[in-house]
Amino acid sequence: MIVGVPTETAPEERRVALTPPVAEQLIEGGLDVCVASGAGTGSDWTDEAYRAVGCEVVDERTAVFERADVICQVRGLGANADAPMDPYREGQVVVGTLGPYDLDAWDELAERRVSAFALELMPRISRAQSMDVLSSMASIGGYKAVLVAAERLPQLFPLEMTAAGTVRPADVFVIGAGVAGLKAVATAERLGASVKAYDIRLEVKQEVESLGADFVELDLETEGSGDDEGYAIEMGEEFYRQQRKELGRVVPESDVVITTAAIPGAPAPELVTTEMIEEMAAGSVVVDLSASTGGNCEPTVADETVEIDGVTVLGPTNLPSTVSHTASQLFANNLHNFLDLLVEDGELDVDLDDEVIASTLLTHDGEIRRPHEDDGADGTDEDESADESLEDEADA
Ligand code: NAI
Repeated sequence: MIVGVPTETAPEERRVALTPPVAEQLIEGGLDVCVASGAGTGSDWTDEAYRAVGCEVVDERTAVFERADVICQVRGLGANADAPMDPYREGQVVVGTLGPYDLDAWDELAERRVSAFALELMPRISRAQSMDVLSSMASIGGYKAVLVAAERLPQLFPLEMTAAGTVRPADVFVIGAGVAGLKAVATAERLGASVKAYDIRLEVKQEVESLGADFVELDLETEGSGDDEGYAIEMGEEFYRQQRKELGRVVPESDVVITTAAIPGAPAPELVTTEMIEEMAAGSVVVDLSASTGGNCEPTVADETVEIDGVTVLGPTNLPSTVSHTASQLFANNLHNFLDLLVEDGELDVDLDDEVIASTLLTHDGEIRRPHEDDGADGTDEDESADESLEDEADA
């Protein structure tokens, strides 16, 4: 069986789906690996490094699609929305971040009988942690967001007591304490800032405090704000209005605000208004990690820098790509663990009863599976045919 790694085509994407060390392990496990020339260049893995571990390196990107049984991509389909659909062959397996919520090509994928696995849909269960690319990438995003803010801020992060006088530490406020937020808290703490964090899920208070930061509690009724998997669910506009009012007390007194609030499959909640940013001191910095899903801050523009009364608002959408070597290592390790589940004795084994497989599989055997394009914003499936096909399989 041949595993293929095409070059990535999304703009500014520097990561690669499989690194030479992971390719070597796959080859030792009896698979063949075919890599497009230059696929690893953006993350500092040369063609020679792939050849040295036994990969076949082909000049033409299309040759990977012709040869491979399993295509591994960092960003395919809906995660690379403006690109034409790659030339997947009938029966081919595609694994990667595929942007299932933005995917238009459902019918075409099903017609081509492609088995497409979107790793963003990995369930948050302990068995799946080693395959969870979103967590790996969010962790890098949270780390890099702090470095970007520190670089912009015309002020040091740590308390400085020098002969020339004492300067207070920078006040960093992190909104959303999931994977990215907690990494941002830890990184800002290590840089010596005075760190506060807030999340709608009060259960993360202890985690925030264990990192040395203060947890901000707002006067809000948050019961029912989380689901069984530990994700926040979408709240009504009245709740968000109240939340903004409360946050309006904390945001203006911060030097750095890093926002990471997210709800899977739904637009990011808008939590920070332009008015709050106008009240921040000139020179302050806001990094909105949720820019790609609409942003947590009113003035955020994805991948642009906005200045408001001397405050810089950044909306980077792909920070992991700026740390491409490490990001590729983690992505490839996650993907390798997923392939271990998918391949048995060198052959594909798509076990539809496996929760990890069933959750991530978009199309298979000519059928469209979930999440279907009619999915509700809360992630529930409103498409009866998709439900029925899943039930049929469960009964079989
Ligand atoms: P996560 O699901 O682990 O964390 C999101 C957190 O937001 C949760 O703890 C949730 O409770 C909280 N939240 C939701 N609604 C809230 C509200 N109204 N008020 C306060 N907190 C709220 O997600 P993760 O993995 O940490 O990712 C966070 C965001 O960062 C996502 O939008 C993700 O796409 C983005 N991201 C951005 C990157 C970039 O380069 N810009 C890189 C990686 C992730």
